[in-house]
Amino acid sequence: MSTPEAKRASYDTLLAQTQALLHGERDWLANLAQFAALVFNAVPALNWAGFYRVSPANDQELVLGPFQGKVACVRIAFSRGVCGACARTQEIQLVEDVHAFPGHIACDAASRSELVLPVAAGGRLRAVFDLDSPEPARFDAIDAEGFQRALAVLVDGTDWA
Ligand code: SME
Repeated sequence: MSTPEAKRASYDTLLAQTQALLHGERDWLANLAQFAALVFNAVPALNWAGFYRVSPANDQELVLGPFQGKVACVRIAFSRGVCGACARTQEIQLVEDVHAFPGHIACDAASRSELVLPVAAGGRLRAVFDLDSPEPARFDAIDAEGFQRALAVLVDGTDWA
């Protein structure tokens, strides 16, 4: 298990990697795809990392966006699951034990803990960023803050359709 200092430093690296990777490109689909791939390959103990976008046709529904990991459910109503709770409240959802979260949607039976962050730009919720881990209690406040910082870089560097 890494120390809090080492963990914070790993998110400083992720931030720098995000800046380098997205530099010079503002296309939302390209940037979300690149970010999901970066996170999935750079961050340990994940079995899924990716985006659910607010559906262009229904602002109370999420639709699957760029991701890495096993195939996932495509549409999630704001009223359902951990992702829906994040979209509804626009607050980070840190779930140490997904089996204890009422309404958790199991896309991969291996998932044991989950972190979901809201992605807002121009005063509007655009997406949520969902991370799943096969380890119980994989995520803590350092992870949440680290991803929040990296997502801020993504939001600043992206034009949203
Ligand atoms: N577990 C999520 C659904 C998405 S998958 O984990 C990729 C939820 O409960 O909202």
